[in-house]
Amino acid sequence: MKFFIDTANLKDIEEAKELGILDGVTTNPSLMAKEGVTGQSNIERHYRIIAEMVEGDISAEVIATDYHGIVEEGKHLAGLAPNIVVKVPMIKEGVKAISHLTQIGIKTNCTLIFSAGQAILAAKAGATYLSPFIGRIDDINWEGMDLIAQIAAIYNTQGYETEILAASIRSSKQIVDAALAGANVVTCPLKAIYGLLKHPLTDIGLANFLADHRKAAEVANG
Ligand code: E4P
Repeated sequence: MKFFIDTANLKDIEEAKELGILDGVTTNPSLMAKEGVTGQSNIERHYRIIAEMVEGDISAEVIATDYHGIVEEGKHLAGLAPNIVVKVPMIKEGVKAISHLTQIGIKTNCTLIFSAGQAILAAKAGATYLSPFIGRIDDINWEGMDLIAQIAAIYNTQGYETEILAASIRSSKQIVDAALAGANVVTCPLKAIYGLLKHPLTDIGLANFLADHRKAAEVANG
């Protein structure tokens, strides 16, 4: 399973990169706004910076919602850097645009996925990635992870090549559950990645190893 970081924060991206486990980055207009990145030229500059920092795929979301607008904006975004993936919402015009962008060799990430039916349409259109929003489904008291398992079963049965990118992940447990459910990629905040490191027995075990080493050294030195 690939690890993407879900942020437009350059410091967090750098930290995840230094951990040596980072395969890509996802952003969305809300994440860009959260970092105070506004205005077309600043937004484009920010995408270029991220795309230079990380070798893997970087999702940059379109703002247009009509077919021609999405295609034009998608081409423009894709031209910013070779590793930019155009993020397109799951709407009728978006599906048409994904189909066209795929035909002309531009990678896409179909976003705002909340049902298996939407996942089938995105795969048929040729999306490179599909982003089911796990946390937002959980927020309305449904089981987000069931959707990942359902889509994984359908994609395996049908031989669809679109990669399932589990998005809207808020906890470390959801990362593990997404891996079990068959996600190809998980995108999550830095905090959820760091949460995977934690186990009390690791901390206790390490403290004991270091204490034993210290004691043995003290005995040896008299
Ligand atoms: C990433 O591709 C999505 O836009 C993001 O994970 C949404 O997360 P949220 O539901 O926490 O806003």
